[in-house]
Amino acid sequence: ATEAPEYDVLFIGGGVAGYVGAIKSGQEGLKTACIEKRGALGGTCLNVGCIPSKSLLNNSHLYHQILHDTKKRGIEVGDVKLNLQQMMKAKDESVAGLTKGVEFLFKKNKVDYIKGTGSFVDEHTVAVNLVDGGEQHVRAKNIIIATGSESTPFPGLEIDEKKVITSTGAIALTEVPKKMTVIGGGIIGLEMASVWSRLGSEVTVVEFLGQIGGPGMDAEIAKQSQKILSKQGMKFKLNTKVTAGDASGNGVKLSVEAAKGGKEETLESDVVLVAIGRRPYTEGLGLENVGIELDERKRLIIDQEYRTKIPHIRVIGDCTFGPMLAHKAEEEAVAAVEYISKGHGHVNYAAIPSVMYTHPEVAWVGQNEAELKAQKINYKIGTFPFTANSRAKTNLETDGMVKFLSDAETDRILGVHIIGANAGEMIAEGTLAVEYGASSEDVARTCHAHPTLAEAFKEAAMATYSSAIHF
Ligand code: FAD
Ligand code: NAI
Repeated sequence: ATEAPEYDVLFIGGGVAGYVGAIKSGQEGLKTACIEKRGALGGTCLNVGCIPSKSLLNNSHLYHQILHDTKKRGIEVGDVKLNLQQMMKAKDESVAGLTKGVEFLFKKNKVDYIKGTGSFVDEHTVAVNLVDGGEQHVRAKNIIIATGSESTPFPGLEIDEKKVITSTGAIALTEVPKKMTVIGGGIIGLEMASVWSRLGSEVTVVEFLGQIGGPGMDAEIAKQSQKILSKQGMKFKLNTKVTAGDASGNGVKLSVEAAKGGKEETLESDVVLVAIGRRPYTEGLGLENVGIELDERKRLIIDQEYRTKIPHIRVIGDCTFGPMLAHKAEEEAVAAVEYISKGHGHVNYAAIPSVMYTHPEVAWVGQNEAELKAQKINYKIGTFPFTANSRAKTNLETDGMVKFLSDAETDRILGVHIIGANAGEMIAEGTLAVEYGASSEDVARTCHAHPTLAEAFKEAAMATYSSAIHF
């Protein structure tokens, strides 16, 4: 192996965590390199996650809307046809443009991009098995592990990404399956179920728990979301577990039964999407060579400054604690670099928004009712439905509501939960309010432009300590 120069900071993994950290590190004037094995930067998020899924969600929504939601708007359309190949091409072009953009930003910020698989040799040395062949050793003063996550497999069902798929297969199907079953009604399950149901597939979502949306979603909002998605044609089996799968025939057979036990039933479909969560990915990283530890969920163990027990080796993003979200990874990347360059960094884990990009979208920040109850915190609720919002009325998009939860005594905002057409954009205001420790009255006394959906946000805040004007 040839010796490479020593770096100040070396990132293993070029996903959101790794690439953002590397850019920040370059900007701080540190000599930086990033090792990525997939042949493109951007990780799960840009290549097979956030970005391609949002492209398909946007365009499948447009297709579905043109098919089902134009007449009442005074728009008569002729023959509407799906060109799936072109829809996939549009997705691929968005992905390619963005991953190339990251390469450009690496050059701009003098980050060396090393294409290959990194594996620890010792505490300061990483061996890279290069994509183009050969091996190189890279040494660094600081090493940041950002190797991300992978989908959790379902025992007994082998993933072929054609009949039995993960999200990676779900963003690349070449035809619309007649019947699709989704195991897991979390965010991946519901986003992908939305795409294929809009394009014509008969989709059934099987969820172990009594509520959809995965961890964190407020129960009242989850219920509304399920009702609306059902109206769009999606079928749900809640409190139901998949006990076994058989993909040996033409399609896939799943045995399901009530979560608490009961009669078995068989679900047959052409395609099964496994969306039961993701797990940290650290395979082949040579952790045993440096003695870094994992917890019982295979997450890399770190302290509050992202340090492993070897202080100059840090960990950020999906492969360590916290929600597996791109913007969380990004925050940690900047903070970890600032700990190195300045000695201090900042991530407020109480103010990380979550968004589910279905239609309508669901978004939240802070705590939900069940979480507040469990901690015996007294809270007030303020809600405002989009049916009473003028802009939602003009847009003919009145499904949903905004819900504020604030401290009964101090009025400090504890949580904001939104289901509505642009919930994902609107939650930014809630996140800012939580970050600044605002009260619901602070938000309600802030002037919001008329007519906007954001007025529903203001009025829900108002309803927390007083009464909404328009409802
Ligand atoms: P990753 O993005 O997984 O990146 C890790 C990178 O490290 C990978 O590219 C991998 O190839 C590389 N790597 C691993 N091991 C090595 C090694 N030994 N040597 C070199 N390279 C290595 N989050 C959101 O916030 N919003 C969304 O809308 C959203 N949508 C999603 C949709 C889907 C379908 C999926 C699957 C995920 C979605 N996520 C979303 C989650 C988001 O993708 C992750 O939280 C984010 O990618 C985490 O970034 P990361 O850098 O920690 O890990
Ligand atoms: P998830 O943890 O959100 O949901 C998985 C769901 O599957 C849970 O509701 C769980 O109860 C259910 N489940 C588990 N085992 C089951 C079984 N045997 N039978 C039936 N149901 C079962 O995980 P998901 O949806 O796979 O997403 C993984 C990660 O990716 C999440 O952490 C999420 O934050 C992230 N992501 C974020 C997106 C966004 O921000 N818009 C989009 C997609 C993914």
